[in-house]
Amino acid sequence: MPSGLILGIESSCDETAAAVVRSGAEVLSNVVASQMQMHAVFGGVVPELASREHLRNIVPVVRQAIAQAGIAFADLDAIAVTEGPGLAGALLVGITYAKALAFALGKPLIAVNHLEGHIHAVLLEMRAQDQTAFTDPGVREKILALVVSGGHTHLYLAHEDQNVWTYCNIGRTLDDAAGEAFDKVAKLLGLGYPGGPWIDALAQHGDPSAVPFRMAQIKPKAHRAEADTSQRHLDFSFSGIKTAVLRHVEAHAMQASIAARREALSHITDPKLADVLPLCDKSTLDLIASFQRAVVDYLLRGTFAAVEAFSAKVIVVSGGVAANRELRARFTAEAAKRNLPIAFPSLALATDNAAMIAAAAWPKLQSRTFATDGLQATAQLRLG
Ligand code: KG4
Ligand code: ZN
Repeated sequence: MPSGLILGIESSCDETAAAVVRSGAEVLSNVVASQMQMHAVFGGVVPELASREHLRNIVPVVRQAIAQAGIAFADLDAIAVTEGPGLAGALLVGITYAKALAFALGKPLIAVNHLEGHIHAVLLEMRAQDQTAFTDPGVREKILALVVSGGHTHLYLAHEDQNVWTYCNIGRTLDDAAGEAFDKVAKLLGLGYPGGPWIDALAQHGDPSAVPFRMAQIKPKAHRAEADTSQRHLDFSFSGIKTAVLRHVEAHAMQASIAARREALSHITDPKLADVLPLCDKSTLDLIASFQRAVVDYLLRGTFAAVEAFSAKVIVVSGGVAANRELRARFTAEAAKRNLPIAFPSLALATDNAAMIAAAAWPKLQSRTFATDGLQATAQLRLG
């Protein structure tokens, strides 16, 4: 049996990451080189720039992960890499490097779905903390996972049998991802990129009941008329709330103050909350808090509807948006009411990282599920 030392490599979007994890539970190193500052100038990720930066970063990031783990390349049992979904050119950098490394070292190569990685970010920490509510075999058959990030909003039922994990996708967004809605609304309001952390921080200073966004504004239109709601009602849509915020801005003539804020922030490199807060009047803070409340409410309803529909035993919430404080507090309170264990990743493992890729690869190493030399980047790779 291998000692379970896996090097994970992640390059699906704007983070070049490498990590060494032992047996899917012990993080020996977790290195992330973020390109956020570079893309922030453009208000979003520029794919060509992302690939170029990954090329520049991949070798030093992997070397750093190995050095911080205090091991040698020869000690590894396997190399795991994100296969997709993500930006094709960005994924390719990680895959090409991982393939070459696995070949040179004569170690197995393991392909991991990025979304599966996000789920295992939480399971890794639950294993590390010996939280049996999440690791008992009986529970592993009934995990409901909400993956909420900048590119994805998915509900999965996850199931494990003999180290083989299977996932059933029971809900997804029909348009924007939840994180994308945070990013777009932040951009619309003249705030920085990525928008989620700004909305999260500024929402604490506003009144979440000031702007009553109605559910009808954010429900998926195509589904409203559907009589058969068997599973379809578990889908999400975030384009409506984005439009509702835009309408609110127009109706309340907020454009001038937004333009002034955007202008002021363009002169500040790496702005902090203390810089941004004085640039937001009460009506802006109220709008931000109300938007966040509406999105969190909506995700909460969908997730707990799924919990009931599928009699889930535990809930796992992951992805960048799982860092949101209101989301964590509301989901935790709702789960407590129902006596259901719920887990979120630590902030370090909520956004993209490679420890989650190495953790998801551990059961694959045990079941000897290896990738071939023909492994390719799959930008639209699905899970379940
Ligand atoms: O998982 P992630 O790092 O990358 C993707 O796979 O997309 O997620 C990034 C997303 C961004 O949209 C960002 O705005 C959002 O997560 N995000 C947040 C928070 N922190 C990051 N959204 C809401 N509240 C936060 N605190
Ligand atoms: Zn992600």
